[in-house]
Amino acid sequence: MALIVRREALHPTLTRLDVLAPLVAGRAEPGQFIILRVDEEGERIPLTVADFDREKGIVTIIFQIVGATTAKLNRLSEGDEIRDFVGPLGQATETPDEPGKKTAVIGGGLGCAIAYPIARKLWQEGGEVHTILGFRDRSLVILEDEFKSVSGKTVLMTDDGSYGQKGLVTDGLRQLIDGGCQYDGVIAIGPLIMMKFVCQLTKEYGIKTLVSMNPIMIDGTGMCGCCRLTVGGKTRFACVDGPDFDGHEVDFDEAMARSAMYRPFEARRREAECVLLR
Ligand SMILES: Cc1cc2nc3c(=O)[nH]c(=O)nc-3n(C[C@H](O)[C@H](O)[C@H](O)COP(=O)(O)OP(=O)(O)OC[C@H]3O[C@@H](n4cnc5c(N)ncnc54)[C@H](O)[C@@H]3O)c2cc1C
Ligand code: FES
Repeated sequence: MALIVRREALHPTLTRLDVLAPLVAGRAEPGQFIILRVDEEGERIPLTVADFDREKGIVTIIFQIVGATTAKLNRLSEGDEIRDFVGPLGQATETPDEPGKKTAVIGGGLGCAIAYPIARKLWQEGGEVHTILGFRDRSLVILEDEFKSVSGKTVLMTDDGSYGQKGLVTDGLRQLIDGGCQYDGVIAIGPLIMMKFVCQLTKEYGIKTLVSMNPIMIDGTGMCGCCRLTVGGKTRFACVDGPDFDGHEVDFDEAMARSAMYRPFEARRREAECVLLR
């Protein structure tokens, strides 16, 4: 059982929970994730460790309400407990061995919650960090001040131009590169389609690019094979080999097709959950 010590609604569809989980907080690194079950009958879902406080034993998760389990999780309040909260799982994001390397960190929507602790780690290790954040519109902007505090340059993009610059994160990245910024690496985290196009762009410029993959996961320990991806022509399991991979090697089209496989089932579960709430 893991106690919820703080709950904050960041947006009607986005919630932050601070959870008391000292064993996870003690070992978590940026890029890793947990798997939780809201209650005894609940399904297991993976969520990234968005932040952690080792001293207080607290792990922060930020989640988007997209279906039955995230809707159920969103109904918990401060003082409630999450049935299972297991982690940290997966490999931590690799950061450069030497300080002074210049990295562009790109977050798309909720991907910003995953990208923030990575940007902060790069900054704390003496790296030069530029961040490019993309959102559909102004109401969905999260963690802007947090990113600014760990970045030499922050570019904010919205699809509709309601905040920052109008356009996609790839437009922001191209502007920075064409303006003379020479990056040693790019880290891109967000929807599959966004990561695919960032990788196409960075391949053009020959910049090494890491992406964080989020396929459907069940056990999270490399046993069920559900989270498999093709990377560099080989089968890899996101839960144990990732979630980070060399973006120029990932077969994004296959990953997108696999992620759509369970849509009809998920829609039925969502409907069932709504009926139960009536
Ligand atoms: C390593 C990893 C880290 C993630 N981190 C975050 C995060 O920090 N915040 C966040 O909001 N979301 C994160 N996700 C996605 C999150 O797990 C799904 O949004 C959640 O499982 C949806 O469950 P649901 O029942 O509410 O929705 P459903 O209606 O069941 O599904 C909605 C969509 O969520 C995805 N999904 C569903 N079940 C799973 C599953 N078991 N594993 C992975 N994806 C699933 C699918 O894309 C699906 O189409 C992460 C996924 C992975 C693999
Ligand atoms: S989730 Fe089962 S092998 Fe990765």
